[in-house]
Amino acid sequence: MAACCVFLGSILLAIILLIFFYPPDLPKVSLSSLTVTKFNSTGDHISGYLNMQFQVLNPNLVTDFFYHDVNCSVYHDKDHLASTMSPGFVHPARETRQISVTVHLTPGTTARGIGDDLATYDFTEFDVKLTILVKSLFRSSEFVEVSCDDVTVGLLPTIGGHGKMIGPARICQVS
Ligand SMILES: *[C@@H]1O[C@H](CO)[C@@H](O)[C@H](O)[C@H]1NC(C)=O
Ligand SMILES: *[C@@H]1O[C@H](CO)[C@@H](O)[C@H](O)[C@H]1NC(C)=O
Repeated sequence: MAACCVFLGSILLAIILLIFFYPPDLPKVSLSSLTVTKFNSTGDHISGYLNMQFQVLNPNLVTDFFYHDVNCSVYHDKDHLASTMSPGFVHPARETRQISVTVHLTPGTTARGIGDDLATYDFTEFDVKLTILVKSLFRSSEFVEVSCDDVTVGLLPTIGGHGKMIGPARICQVS
């Protein structure tokens, strides 16, 4: 009888240890929408606002995440256009949260090659990256990098112009 309890007890303990100490699965992120407002461009100089919505899933059964500030950066080819910090939040296990971020491209922002893209195709591509410092119970904080690359955005290069992402929500790479 006692041996049986010890046996069952150690299985239970093993399961509990696995659940709490096994490295949690990383969040899953998709970019569900990207719109551009007040877009203005002269050659390779642009300005305006990029409004983005991300869906973030915590795929773990029991592990809650604590996100510190979220750094959202936008790139065009090699050019870093702008970044915005959003406040951190608690992300309970198994839940999906929406993060909304607006990045302001200040007048004179350089995006080399964008003038040609817009003159030729009326669309261009941006790379969007989120850097999140993630903490979970029993584990030290670690940086999670999220990349949503080659996001195609249709744009009218007119004053006060606007644009939006072409195609469905995109799955972003998490590392
Ligand atoms: C658009 O950009 C051009 C050149 O940078 C500037 O002269 C013009 O004032 C801008 N227009 C608006 C509405 O911001
Ligand atoms: C956000 O990330 C960008 C690109 O790596 C960096 O230039 C910027 O300094 C970061 N912002 C903050 C507040 O850490």
